[in-house]
Amino acid sequence: MKRAVQSLGLVCLCLLAAALQAEPSPYVDFKDEHLRFGRAVWMGTCENCHGYGVADSPIPMQPEHWRERVGKQRQELYNNAINGYFGPDDSYMPERGGNPELSDEQVKQAVDYMVNLAEHSYLKCFTQTWRNCDLTT
Ligand code: HEC
Repeated sequence: MKRAVQSLGLVCLCLLAAALQAEPSPYVDFKDEHLRFGRAVWMGTCENCHGYGVADSPIPMQPEHWRERVGKQRQELYNNAINGYFGPDDSYMPERGGNPELSDEQVKQAVDYMVNLAEHSYLKCFTQTWRNCDLTT
């Protein structure tokens, strides 16, 4: 009997895992190869903060957070991500997202991915209600 209950529990766990996997990711997988590399870097380092707004980091799926940033020169965003950056509200973006293993090129790829994700979210939100539109979930 105990065994049956245990294996039932296991089946439930597997079903749950399958359901979680089927959940569409808010992190759009763009076809462009450069952006796919960028997504991999984002998943490995940047998502830890930017996926959830940790330490006031801007979330790409909340385009309101990115409105002014998308308007900046791309080179400025690259520099701030590579060298670290104190924002106007004193929130701090650490050098290379705190991962010294990343090359300049990888950080740039991740920035490009984030900007594309923000723009994509912006367009998606535009068809819904733009203000405070949140595609995090
Ligand atoms: C420890 C948390 C953390 C991690 C990890 C992190 N960031 Fe950030 N990032 C921040 C915070 C906080 C800000 C907001 C700074 C501000 O503008 O106030 C920010 C801002 C930015 C900006 C906007 C800069 C600007 O000029 O407005 C970019 C671009 C950026 N991060 C890229 C990245 C990339 C690429 C990675 C991964 C390689 C990454 N971040 C990882 C916390 C983080």
